[in-house]
Amino acid sequence: MVERTFMMIKPDGVARGKIGEIIQRIEHKGYVITAIKMVRPTHELLAKHYAEHLDKPFYPSLVRYMTSGPVVAMIGEGTNIVTGWRMLMGETNPTLAAPGTIRGDLGREWSGDAIKNIVHGSDSITAAEYEISLWFS
Ligand code: PPS
Repeated sequence: MVERTFMMIKPDGVARGKIGEIIQRIEHKGYVITAIKMVRPTHELLAKHYAEHLDKPFYPSLVRYMTSGPVVAMIGEGTNIVTGWRMLMGETNPTLAAPGTIRGDLGREWSGDAIKNIVHGSDSITAAEYEISLWFS
């Protein structure tokens, strides 16, 4: 089934010069990027994007990390891309992410109190539509 998802290269991916490699992996897989832009996320945008995590103990460190620099926001399209992109990303914690995944190959940091895991992907079709409307309003 052809789906859309919201994909993001987080501040560490941009700062470490990994935009090209990550986009290459997306395109190698056969997914199509239908929209792309660099954004400096605000606290307001992040509060909406991570609404279900507002009460989590890691939320302040997550916001510090996500406001530390620009991110690349993208809309991707392809067959079963919601699940497929999360498979390409790998586990949340880069230390546990399998080699071959983006986080497994490129992620290495748990610095300070934040997991720096390079990329984001929506976890469902519903979340994808919500996040796309948020970031590409
Ligand atoms: S939970 O509690 O299971 O719902 O959390 P999880 O789905 O694993 O993670 C939700 C998002 O929060 C990020 N996260 C963190 N960021 C920084 N520091 C810490 N300690 C941390 N723990 C979780 C995680 O990467 C998820 O963000 P996205 O952008 O969706 O990958």
